[in-house]
Amino acid sequence: MRKIFLAPSLFGADPLNIAGSVDAMKNQFDWLHFDIMDGHFVKNLSFGPHFVDALRKKYPDAFIDTHLMIDSLDVILPLFMNKNSSSITIHAETEGHLLHASLNKIKSAGLKAGISICPPTKISSIDESVLEIADLILIMSVTPGFGAQKFIPSSLNKVRELVSLREAKKYHYLIEIDGGINENNIAEIALAGCDVIVAGSSLFNSNDPERWLINARKNIEEAMKNFDRP
Ligand code: DX5
Ligand code: ZN
Repeated sequence: MRKIFLAPSLFGADPLNIAGSVDAMKNQFDWLHFDIMDGHFVKNLSFGPHFVDALRKKYPDAFIDTHLMIDSLDVILPLFMNKNSSSITIHAETEGHLLHASLNKIKSAGLKAGISICPPTKISSIDESVLEIADLILIMSVTPGFGAQKFIPSSLNKVRELVSLREAKKYHYLIEIDGGINENNIAEIALAGCDVIVAGSSLFNSNDPERWLINARKNIEEAMKNFDRP
């Protein structure tokens, strides 16, 4: 069975008790997803680089998956190149012709490099030169900027498209999905071919985030077993 990484989005956690929220998951998570918003590319603000630095200090072995939803990458990206993130994902929409170069910058700093696309952006708009070097492709399944929105079902068509492309062209990226994921749709989302599943409000608004993750994994495994069965 292929490995699925569960990545809690700390944007959905209590901002006054982020460490407490991480600890409450009792290591049942795989990655920690961290959303950085600039008030321009998305209509909201969240954390800055010093939050990532503090998170790294407290959780030295965690895989910190930083998602940059920001316009002025030339100013902000250097602040994230200190290796406190494990991966950095940037938006294809903000980078235009600089996308390939920016991904290479992240990779040369020794970090995993991802690209993300918003719901209206098509996979076919991402050039091969970018797909072949990306370590992660993050499909936004809601309009980025806010938690607790409704999952956009057609996002799964993009996931399937990425699975076929990866197979046909021997790309190496992991497929990540972010936005509107809950206990009821997580198994179907995993079955569509996602490798990394981000969840914020559903997980952190539950009474027991540890139990949420254990149940999610169980549901996914069950669905995959049934799917594999002839
Ligand atoms: C949205 C962020 C997400 C968000 C997901 O812009 O990128 O990571 O926290 O939250 P939920 O799971 O509540 O949709
Ligand atoms: Zn995110």
